[in-house]
Amino acid sequence: MKEKRNSFSSSLGFVLAAAGSAVGLGNIWRFPYLAAKDGGGLFLLVYIILALTFGFTMIVSEVAIGRKTKQSALTAYGRLHRPSRWLGGLASLIPFLILPYYCVIGGWVLKYAIAFLTGSGTAAAGAGYFTGFITSTTEPVVLDLVFLAATAFIIFRGVNKGIEAISKVLMPVLLLFVIGIAVFSLTIRAHEGRSALQGLKVYLVPNLTGMHLKDVMSVVIDAMGQLFYSISVAMGIMVTYGSYFRDDHNLMKSVNQIEFFDTLVAFLAGVMIIPAVFVFLGEEGMRSSGPGLMFEALPRVFAEMGSIGNAVGCMFFVMVLLAALTSAMSLMEAVVASLIDAFGWTRSRATVFEAAVAAAMGAVICFGYNFLYFEAVLPNGSKAQILDILDYLSNNILMPLLAIGTCILIGWIIKPKTVIDEVTKNGERFGRRGLYVVMIRFIAPVLLFVLLLGSVGVFK
Ligand code: PHE
Repeated sequence: MKEKRNSFSSSLGFVLAAAGSAVGLGNIWRFPYLAAKDGGGLFLLVYIILALTFGFTMIVSEVAIGRKTKQSALTAYGRLHRPSRWLGGLASLIPFLILPYYCVIGGWVLKYAIAFLTGSGTAAAGAGYFTGFITSTTEPVVLDLVFLAATAFIIFRGVNKGIEAISKVLMPVLLLFVIGIAVFSLTIRAHEGRSALQGLKVYLVPNLTGMHLKDVMSVVIDAMGQLFYSISVAMGIMVTYGSYFRDDHNLMKSVNQIEFFDTLVAFLAGVMIIPAVFVFLGEEGMRSSGPGLMFEALPRVFAEMGSIGNAVGCMFFVMVLLAALTSAMSLMEAVVASLIDAFGWTRSRATVFEAAVAAAMGAVICFGYNFLYFEAVLPNGSKAQILDILDYLSNNILMPLLAIGTCILIGWIIKPKTVIDEVTKNGERFGRRGLYVVMIRFIAPVLLFVLLLGSVGVFK
């Protein structure tokens, strides 16, 4: 039986669900880490400019494709232009590849949330704790499955009773947690002569000393890569959520709100993390923490805080867990909705199928740290296990390719007017219209191509 297509009951429901997708691990650990590395305020400035130009162009396009075709990723692109239907295939392959490892990381976050909840935060700060955990054989698989099951349950309940209802509760809670921890972080007392306010300065004030043009270029590339990842475009998600966006709601306004929410949480995550890490681990500790910031440096910071550390750590990891859950939901929905639209499956059948595949793939990914351990080297020079390979393939290769394809489809084949007409069909204003046309036809594809070259290690 073909089920009736749902739609989000309010634009707020849509905005919170889409922001739930956008706000994820990237906002919380990757953004602050890049900002600290890339000259503080300079990174922020570049990021905001890119969000208002490039980011806005990509999200508007995808949401409009979804709403116009009323199809999820797999079938939407082909509806617009039959020969471009392979883009739909790519757009559903990407979330299919990401979901399994995203849930594995969700399981890691769950592990830390439980550790801090049960008062064993100090142990979590010990050297080797993280490696010890991910190389163990059963626990990571079990926690991955728990996280995946929670995600599948929400998707099983559908667009309104599942995604929309959950996002409306979790997103405001998440924002409160982030604000709470950020305020706390600013009140941390100085330690070894370093104060929280100095840390805040490192984050906010542009630091151009010793920067050459080449370094500025790399800041721009970092900011673009981060933005691209953060707004959840080029993975079929915004098309799918857009297909549930009602025709009489204002698309442009909602897109601006999503971007605002996403950037706000990323910004506040910096306020939350950078001063705390600066006070306890110093400027060098902060810059060199890299991606290990969340699972290794932060637990150390919480341990340094003394008795209150467990509570703050617990609050932090629960908050990250919420952020990861709403992102995982959107990934699974993109795949499930594609199965429903393309093959006429029921939601329950599609959900059970996708959950089973993601569970099997997740187990293989976890075993990549023990039974199936090997060390590969990626084209960009970093060492990789199964998880990193999937991440590299989807984020660095497939996503830029899909995004370039989308720009060509809209910019040159079906023309920007198709999107503009969709956005303004109830007489709404399309602000930044000229900018949109130039972005989608010329600038965005070029930027994405540079990003792709960067990913395959051309600038190394
Ligand atoms: N946009 C999310 C973030 O910033 C990442 C994400 C990845 C979301 C995959 C959904 C799917 O962390």
